[in-house]
Amino acid sequence: MRKWKTHVATALMATAVTSPALAQSVVTDPGRGREIAESLCSTCHIVDASRGNIAKSDISSFYSIANKPDQSQERLAGAIIFPHPAMPKVSFTNSELRDVIAYIMSLRTAK
Ligand code: HEC
Repeated sequence: MRKWKTHVATALMATAVTSPALAQSVVTDPGRGREIAESLCSTCHIVDASRGNIAKSDISSFYSIANKPDQSQERLAGAIIFPHPAMPKVSFTNSELRDVIAYIMSLRTAK
């Protein structure tokens, strides 16, 4: 058993080393998500934790998006992967998407 686990760990480490894009695919990094949001999303959304909802025209701030009733990672993924009309085409890696979602959900204060 122990031997088997070691093999898996070694294989995972090898993957991380040989493919940098996958290196962060297991653990989410809300800090990186915030950086991504600031560069790609902040032209329309207020992406920091400010509670105001006074972004461009009527676009929801990430704080209010995060605090919608029943908001979830799955819902957010759907909303981001199938972009709304006004949203520029963004192509994320899976780990970038997870980080952005982790960041948005970190703004959630509602239960
Ligand atoms: C060109 C403007 C624009 C950009 C850039 C943009 N969005 Fe949006 N976003 C909108 C509009 C418009 C809506 C729909 C209106 C609303 O929900 O306030 C929306 C809605 C959303 C929603 C759905 C909210 C909900 O729960 O119903 C999510 C999630 C979202 N955006 C995430 C993102 C993320 C993540 C980025 C950056 C990768 C981004 N948006 C960049 C304009 C934009």
